[in-house]
Amino acid sequence: MTKQRVVSGMRPTGRLHIGHYHGVLENWISLQDEFDCFFFVADWHSLTTEYADTSGIRDNIREMVLDWVAFGLDTSRSLVFRQSLVPHHAELNLILSMITPVSWLERNPTYKEMLDNLEARDLSTFGFLGYPVLMASDIILYKATRVPVGHDQLPHLEITREIARRFNHLYGQVFPEPEALLTPTPKLLGLDGRKMSKSYGNSIYLSDTAEETTKKVMSMMTDPARVRRSDAGEPDVCVAFNLHRLYVPQARLEEIIPACRNASIGCVECKRVLAECMNERLAPPRARRVELAKDPGFVDDMLQDGSRRASLVSDAVMSEARAALKI
Ligand code: TRP
Ligand code: SF4
Repeated sequence: MTKQRVVSGMRPTGRLHIGHYHGVLENWISLQDEFDCFFFVADWHSLTTEYADTSGIRDNIREMVLDWVAFGLDTSRSLVFRQSLVPHHAELNLILSMITPVSWLERNPTYKEMLDNLEARDLSTFGFLGYPVLMASDIILYKATRVPVGHDQLPHLEITREIARRFNHLYGQVFPEPEALLTPTPKLLGLDGRKMSKSYGNSIYLSDTAEETTKKVMSMMTDPARVRRSDAGEPDVCVAFNLHRLYVPQARLEEIIPACRNASIGCVECKRVLAECMNERLAPPRARRVELAKDPGFVDDMLQDGSRRASLVSDAVMSEARAALKI
């Protein structure tokens, strides 16, 4: 049986934090055996919000891709490429934009939400409204059947399916309707107890050193009700403990939980255990990242090569789409 095809992209936001890792990247990495995977840097998507200042995009691509590869995206199994190096994304975007009713885009809840959240920037552009059309192009350009996305992207994927259906209806069957491959995205809390997010400055990065990690972990909020060392604590409401669950072995957790509740372990000691476990687990990919980063051409060469290979696939699909259009 041939493998189903997975396509997914990330906007280049720079170095990834552990929330990105456990939310998205770890899942991508785990799909590589079962699926025929296409993973790409959605750099044109960045322009939808960053058009006024593009100075960071190039570096952001490099930092993000170093994380991808160091932590386990494997270019011998997956196609890893850059959207803007495969111009077919733009060609298909143009064609799909002709058949997409504006009302589908205006009612998209993600669109309305983003307009509100980023009100400091002028997002009243054609491109921003058309974000889901570009995303649809990215996906159906490779005839993807499965798209790993978080819950927040489901409305976009629904638009992708509607656009594919409309194309097929108008011009004949070319594109499969892709299905979501829903990834459970546990919202990771950052150092201050809010959702881990680059813009809050509360993140632990994959590329942080062990020292930086330890320092951050030791500054992390715990159970806010545990003021004195002699107070009993509750792991279920402890901010640091949301990371213990991911990094500390089960047997250790089973000692820590009662010890916290009867105040026989202090938060300093408890967080030291966490920092050690994190650094131990993150050390090998971090070391790989340092090695990869020594070669200044590595990311560019890899993305060039991946994009060339992706183009072979997209070229065949575009030939089919053009033939269906009959122009
Ligand atoms: N919209 C996605 C995000 O913001 C990124 C993206 C662009 C994407 N094109 C895609 C994801 C195609 C999956 C498939 O995270
Ligand atoms: Fe959290 Fe550990 Fe402190 Fe308990 S002892 S409140 S689990 S850091």
